[in-house]
Amino acid sequence: MNILVVSGSPRKSGNTMSMVNYVEKAMNKKYDNISVEYLHLIDKELKYCIGCCLCLRKGGNQCPLEDDKDEILRKMHEADGIIFASPGYSAMVSGLFKNFLDRFMYLDHIPEFVGKPVMVLSTSGGDGVMGAPKFMANNSFYWWGCNIVDIIGIRHAFYTNNRKTHMKYNKRLSSAADKLISATSNKINVSPNFRQYIYFMFNKTELEVSPDVMPYRTKVWEENGWMRSDYYYETKINPLFKCVGFVVFGMMKVVYRRLLGKDASKALAEYLKNN
Ligand SMILES: Cc1cc2nc3c(=O)[nH]c(=O)nc-3n(C[C@H](O)[C@H](O)[C@H](O)COP(=O)(O)O)c2cc1C
Repeated sequence: MNILVVSGSPRKSGNTMSMVNYVEKAMNKKYDNISVEYLHLIDKELKYCIGCCLCLRKGGNQCPLEDDKDEILRKMHEADGIIFASPGYSAMVSGLFKNFLDRFMYLDHIPEFVGKPVMVLSTSGGDGVMGAPKFMANNSFYWWGCNIVDIIGIRHAFYTNNRKTHMKYNKRLSSAADKLISATSNKINVSPNFRQYIYFMFNKTELEVSPDVMPYRTKVWEENGWMRSDYYYETKINPLFKCVGFVVFGMMKVVYRRLLGKDASKALAEYLKNN
């Protein structure tokens, strides 16, 4: 089993990597044939996004920047499971990790990692510990459709100095390691949580209202049958989610048409073309 670590820490032997190393050891202790590959963003050339939105309009491979993006994408596709790790900087992800998310932003709307088992891990000194991991999950990996097995924020100063906290976090990391391996070995179609379902429905509703805005995105959604399904894959959806979705997205359609006129799709397409 091939686990990829995508790290946004500039310190390859720093606090965040020491936590990932703990997870790796926990996996190797219990399971055979686990290989863990580290992809340190600090070693890769990943230029800043220039905001052309060609990835959204024409597909991820249309990005005009020439750097290591394709290699990173390929490694993520090849991996059975991924650990996304970043230190907390100013209660957020590191700049390295933020740039990585910007460069793959199109995956929020044209997902390629639906159901991919993912662990999200961050360390901070103490305060704002969940800022970075929640940001990673809520603003990107849930949008990508990943199967997030755990979202962990570790107050590293307390981990180091307080035995009780140390033991508590170690237990959490071992359990997250188990969950990641279990998700990669049993490829079942996990039911989405509320956030995942809402993100799916948001994308779908936006495409229903404005199919002309990003024709490539519309094509991918049509080809995958997502426009006619309840989720990215066959699975059980909580009936309450469906009820809320029905109301919220019915309202969203009305609001779009009210704000942008009957031809919301054309209006938005024109807007994007000029931006
Ligand atoms: C630029 C910068 C900003 C930071 N911001 C915070 C912060 O807002 N809250 C916090 O508790 N720790 C903060 N820290 C501390 C780091 O999050 C903490 O030391 C982390 O474990 C470092 O991980 P690393 O060794 O993998 O780089 C910051 C550190 C740096 C270098």
